Amino acid sequence: MGRITRLPEDLANQIAAGEVVERPASVVKELVENAIDAQATRIVITAEYGGKKLIRVEDDGLGMDPDDARLCLERHATSKIRRADDLGAIVTLGFRGEALPSIASVSHFRLRTRARGSESGTEIRVNAGIVESVVEAGGPEGTMIEVADVFYNLPARRKFLKSDAAEAAQVSRFVTQLALCYPEVGFTLTSSGRKVLSVPPVTNLSDRLYQIYGDRQDLVAVDREFGGLRLHGFIAALAEQGPVRGPQHVFVNRRIVKDRTIAHAILDSYSVATNKERSPEVHLFLEVPPDRVDVNVHPTKAEVRFREQSLVHEMVRRALGDALGKGPAPELTLRTSDVLPGQPMQPAIPGALHGGSFPSRWQTPSNLREEPASGTSGPNPRAEPSSVRPMIALGQFRDTFIIAMDDEGLCIIDQHVAHERVLFERIMEKLTSEGLESQRLLIPLVMEMPPAERAALVAKAGALARFGFEVEEFGGDSLKVTAMPALLPPDECDAALRALADDLEGLDRGLRLEDAVKQIAATTACHAAVKAHYPLTLEKMHHILEELRATAYSTVCPHGRPVMLRITRREIEKNFDRI
Ligand SMILES: Nc1ncnc2c1ncn2[C@@H]1O[C@H](COP(=O)(O)OP(=O)(O)OP(=O)(O)O)[C@@H](O)[C@H]1O
Ligand SMILES: [Mg+2]
Repeated sequence: MGRITRLPEDLANQIAAGEVVERPASVVKELVENAIDAQATRIVITAEYGGKKLIRVEDDGLGMDPDDARLCLERHATSKIRRADDLGAIVTLGFRGEALPSIASVSHFRLRTRARGSESGTEIRVNAGIVESVVEAGGPEGTMIEVADVFYNLPARRKFLKSDAAEAAQVSRFVTQLALCYPEVGFTLTSSGRKVLSVPPVTNLSDRLYQIYGDRQDLVAVDREFGGLRLHGFIAALAEQGPVRGPQHVFVNRRIVKDRTIAHAILDSYSVATNKERSPEVHLFLEVPPDRVDVNVHPTKAEVRFREQSLVHEMVRRALGDALGKGPAPELTLRTSDVLPGQPMQPAIPGALHGGSFPSRWQTPSNLREEPASGTSGPNPRAEPSSVRPMIALGQFRDTFIIAMDDEGLCIIDQHVAHERVLFERIMEKLTSEGLESQRLLIPLVMEMPPAERAALVAKAGALARFGFEVEEFGGDSLKVTAMPALLPPDECDAALRALADDLEGLDRGLRLEDAVKQIAATTACHAAVKAHYPLTLEKMHHILEELRATAYSTVCPHGRPVMLRITRREIEKNFDRI
């Protein structure tokens, strides 16, 4: 006699449930996705004790007739695909016909549904996969599903559930994500009697974001089409005060997914633009023609497989790159009412605008250390085209801001952050080739420094050497510096090394060398860059503007501060009543 038997259906369903239903939140996700597939416009979700005790999802969608209501609880019964070909281009969230039977096999389950336009509905109760009753029932059009005591018949699984609060948090995370994907649908989530989310239907993503997160000046829009794909959404701007961490929501064809290719491209985009952001907030929606992505690769559909992975990577990188720094500089709006009565606007602020007549450290003949740096000026070969147009420098305001113009308006450039951006790029560029030029100090610099900071510098002596710094322990509390980067002014060496010690000491242990290098580059650039309150010649201003133009990410500094502000031609003409 053979040893193989067919498993009874309820046991087969329980096994399937092991994959589909990880926790209460996955039940919520499956039920809400079904409601969305049924064209609901309003979905009301209730969860008690993080969904462990009760989950209820009510929708005003298509509903089911009595036959479908019975069928939907059978395994592999679905209205969403019919033949193998359909798998190649799935347009609904569900398609396997597995979720409901799986959920019903591990809970006390109640379904009440009424098809649109039909007189009455159906109510079905199931316990641990066994249908207890099927009766005709009233109720509104649409579907209501109640799932009580998930895993009550599988104590081993129930034990693995987290605290009520942790499960509730996961439920609200999924509902929030689905709400972001479907702005046209209204969502209400009540968790243990508390209304967590309540968003009526709206017509677009910005309105939905506003409903959920309020006014967010710190997010920038992304919208780009490339190679038949479209990416849109909002991402954390590179603001100085901007969040370093935040929710990362990535959706592919309006599905919640975790995708390594996209996650990598996001990190990549931020890390070339700034050395600060690590896991920034993003809400990104990728649209891919359904025949170019396989959604049937993961038990809870949490992953997808792209036919052209590198295209997706490239697309995300470009779109984010544009949005982050190569996008337009922030625009200033002129307000005539800002001029206080009795304080006539002066035609020019005396002494504020000048050029040419002030000494500059770039002109000082003895200042040979600048030579190697300026010798490498000119377009950075690896830089992508910048969004900055050719500009004519007009002068300097308060020895801190360069005032310039192009065809499209006036620009105010922060000389320090602009130069810092330029130097950062140049340093990173040099590091990938031969390393930075070094200048040997005639008299070594001996610095007193606390042990932890000294140790941090010495531990990274190898990385520092690529920048041109040579440092060694000098006994006692001292550190000896024998060489420094050529582009750093000697009087900045002490401050730069102290800042570096501070950075490196503060960074996590086990930090990747790459991150340490970026940090060193940013700090070196900051100390080598022209300072605020420092007079510049017109020539030098022009030089900074030209270098900036040749720099990718020219509108943000490595720390994320804006480099320039614009007053557009339109704004000027409008205010002079010329248009
Ligand atoms: N809220 C609902 N409103 C109307 N019909 C529904 C609803 N929920 C489920 N159904 C019907 O029941 C069927 C089975 O649902 P189930 O979630 O088990 O499978 P599916 O959505 O087709 O695929 P998957 O297992 O991938 O979710 C669906 O195909 C759909 O026809
Ligand atoms: Mg489903």
